[in-house]
Amino acid sequence: MKRLHAVLWAGWLIFMASPILAGGAKVDYPEDYRNWTHVKSMVIEPGHPLENPFQGIHHIYANSKALQGLQGGEFADGSVLVFDLLKYNEADNTLQESDRKLIGVMQRDGAAFGKTGGWGFEAFAGDSQTQRIVTDGGVGCYACHTAQEDHAFVFSRFRN
Ligand code: HEC
Repeated sequence: MKRLHAVLWAGWLIFMASPILAGGAKVDYPEDYRNWTHVKSMVIEPGHPLENPFQGIHHIYANSKALQGLQGGEFADGSVLVFDLLKYNEADNTLQESDRKLIGVMQRDGAAFGKTGGWGFEAFAGDSQTQRIVTDGGVGCYACHTAQEDHAFVFSRFRN
């Protein structure tokens, strides 16, 4: 009886741990990222290959660990980069920020996200902190970010 118990316990533990073992760890919503360091901005116009879904104005933010990585150090576990994508309106020869389309997030955790270069990739729709967009575990995001393999899969560079 004791033995059966042990087997059941072991099975339950493996079952509970399986999302982690299978690389099912989740990226956290990056609370407070608007108070992080602004890295750079870009406007993507219609006709650009990334138009769908990235047309708009985006601003990139780094938390303090990610900033150290951008400044030539390591991207330590806990580094987070945010791609904040807004629609824009053209008015009076200006492009003005409008509603948020989505935020893209890269969260560094070498063990949990080993299959995607040590980064967890996620996107949250609009202003939602819970509506997740990525359905493939970040494989599609990572496939493009591999172009930056020599820079820890990060495109952005920090300017002074
Ligand atoms: C087809 C290529 C491509 C795909 C697919 C892609 N990205 Fe990116 N991503 C880029 C490029 C290019 C930049 C740099 C933009 C800039 O310089 O302003 C970038 C920047 C980022 C950044 C800021 C850090 C960095 O690398 O500069 C984050 C965060 C990010 N992407 C998340 C995602 C997420 C999440 C997905 C999937 C939902 C995704 N990306 C899919 C090309 C891609």
